[in-house]
Amino acid sequence: MNTMATPTATTTTVLDASGVTMRFGGLTAVRSVDLQVNSGEIVGLIGPNGAGKTTFFNCLTGLYVPTEGKVSYKGTVLPPKPHLVTQAGIARTFQNIRLFANMTVLENVLVGRHTRTKEGLFSALLRGPGFKKAEAASHARAMELLEFIGLAHKADHLSRNLPYGEQRKLEIARALASDPGLLLLDEPTAGMNPQETRAAEELIFAIRDQGIAVLVIEHDMRFIFNLCDRVACLVQGEKLVEGTPDVVQSDERVVAAYLGTPFEGAPGADEAAEVAAAEAHADAQSTTRTDRTEGDTQ
Ligand SMILES: Nc1ncnc2c1ncn2[C@@H]1O[C@H](COP(=O)(O)OP(=O)(O)OP(=O)(O)O)[C@@H](O)[C@H]1O
Ligand SMILES: [Mg+2]
Repeated sequence: MNTMATPTATTTTVLDASGVTMRFGGLTAVRSVDLQVNSGEIVGLIGPNGAGKTTFFNCLTGLYVPTEGKVSYKGTVLPPKPHLVTQAGIARTFQNIRLFANMTVLENVLVGRHTRTKEGLFSALLRGPGFKKAEAASHARAMELLEFIGLAHKADHLSRNLPYGEQRKLEIARALASDPGLLLLDEPTAGMNPQETRAAEELIFAIRDQGIAVLVIEHDMRFIFNLCDRVACLVQGEKLVEGTPDVVQSDERVVAAYLGTPFEGAPGADEAAEVAAAEAHADAQSTTRTDRTEGDTQ
């Protein structure tokens, strides 16, 4: 099921990354990538391991200062500083889960709330009425988010005791706590079983329905093509193809890049064909062997 965003008259560009390049010494991890995400959209970013997807996210969120290019959020160029990017309205989750293991589930969400609370250090130390009111509001909002992701019943558990799939969901709740207009998800279903992946899909649709645009990196193609309105494929740091799921999944360059299958006539195609033939031969032999073994035991 692809619950496409209902088109509205007022579609705006939420994220506008143009000419983003990130070099590490001699390695160009991201090369002149343009990508836009519009309001109401779920956009997918795919590509083989090492294609530059996470590096691109790091450029968007100010973790890296791009070598070239600029990133705008709702028409304003973002300074490459993570806390300013969060404040502007972009939240993210990480490929390698980054939770505070010894904090409770609720406390982890409250940490994410931090950028949206105005109360300063003195107010916190004095614990005056302003602080108490803000604290109560943050607590209520955090619990609401835990309800939303289905973890309210575990609010007091230490986050390290959660199963892996729930830790990923908790990361999403923590990101949502900063009230973002754009959510970046780096491999949200990694390590999830099929049921959890289905639930994550529904959760992302629900997030989009709340008016938050989503940009999601994933290797699970079924998940991506079912979820996204638009998909971009990065290969060796460059955007190879971008389009609707139908267009991208039937693009032979994407299939080739993803599966590591060279095109006919591509460099190394002969060698790959030899390897494939050898594998097919080995498979045929092992099948014969299996048949014989089964025959012997009967
Ligand atoms: N801080 C860094 N310093 C040097 N090289 C880096 C750095 N971060 C990433 N790279 C390199 O940039 C390239 C892109 O890596 P990146 O992690 O962005 O890929 P990815 O598409 O997210 O891959 P995966 O699907 O495996 O997560 C890789 O060659 C990686 O080794
Ligand atoms: Mg990555």
